Amino acid sequence: MSAPNNSYDPVEVSALHPDEVERMRTEALDAIAKAAGLEELKEVRIAHAGDRSPLALANREIGALPPAAKAEAGKRVGGARRAVSEAVKARQSQLEDERDARVLVEEAVDVTLPFDRIPRGARHPLTTVAERMADIFVGMGFEVAEGPEVEAEWYNFDALNFLPDHPARTMQDTFFVAGPDGAESGLVLRTHTSPVQVRSMLDRELPVYVVVPGRTFRTDELDATHSPVFHQLEGLVVDEGITLAHLRGAIQVFVERMFGEGLRTRMRPSYFPFTEPSAEVDMECFVCRGASVGNPDAPCRTCSSEGWIEIGGCGVVNPRVLTAAGVDTERYSGWAFGLGIERTLMFAHGVKDMHDMVEGDIRFTAAFGMEM
Ligand code: PHE
Repeated sequence: MSAPNNSYDPVEVSALHPDEVERMRTEALDAIAKAAGLEELKEVRIAHAGDRSPLALANREIGALPPAAKAEAGKRVGGARRAVSEAVKARQSQLEDERDARVLVEEAVDVTLPFDRIPRGARHPLTTVAERMADIFVGMGFEVAEGPEVEAEWYNFDALNFLPDHPARTMQDTFFVAGPDGAESGLVLRTHTSPVQVRSMLDRELPVYVVVPGRTFRTDELDATHSPVFHQLEGLVVDEGITLAHLRGAIQVFVERMFGEGLRTRMRPSYFPFTEPSAEVDMECFVCRGASVGNPDAPCRTCSSEGWIEIGGCGVVNPRVLTAAGVDTERYSGWAFGLGIERTLMFAHGVKDMHDMVEGDIRFTAAFGMEM
């Protein structure tokens, strides 16, 4: 027989005293009511309803009570624990509802706000126009060539038959590159893309059919029609039996593809040291097609009522240039042209002011669409 269970520690059993159980229950319900968020409630639940909570510990003491005391203590502690766990549940769902309501407000999406606020980039229209111009010649069998922007004077001038006293060499037009201590470097910022004519003939096997889009530099002030930095598209053909007729045909195809079917072209005699004969190339005004000429009632702003628009220079390659580039002038002949890319962009897209092209305002570029 076991001895009557009267040996329990009165201090431990005090945990089962009604006042004490009531105190634990009140403390738990208070803490639950005060839990301000779900995280906090979780801590409160562990502290007051978890395995090591005062009520759980008190519950364990019941087993040690004399049988007569067990039922009553069980009821008291069990009631308190149920009340606490129900309070936790109720507070839990209350806090969840609050959170859900808050999320609906805080994470609401205003579908009327503008989207895509970081505009996508696009290439500059000068780049894309230059590419379209070059592509027309690529379609006729030309290759695209390149040359340096900082160029040897020899390529930029001497090889192109500019005599030493040619006015284009003076400080007025050319950016000369200073050497160490201000000495002459023999380098310039290329004033045109024509030096790449000579480079192409030296670099390549004949025949040569190249176009050269590129940046060029002259000491002009920036104004509506000039920029110290501008772009040209050079063309060069060197082959056997090449004549001016091929040049006219190539220019004609270019103008029609770029500006419109049926537009006429013309050449006016001109002078360049590196071509002979030389010409300025004009195309018929694609806006008025000549209708504004001598017709003050219908003036044309695109061609200033002249009926023609100048697009570049051209000519038969001077044999001196061929010789400088090591080409046999008995066997080969060629022609070349230089077209202004800014001018082409101005006419093709109605750009009125050079400033727009150089200032880099994204709104100007974006107006051409996102052409990549
Ligand atoms: N290089 C000349 C210029 O810049 C244009 C040109 C190129 C003329 C090729 C004839 C042949 O004005």
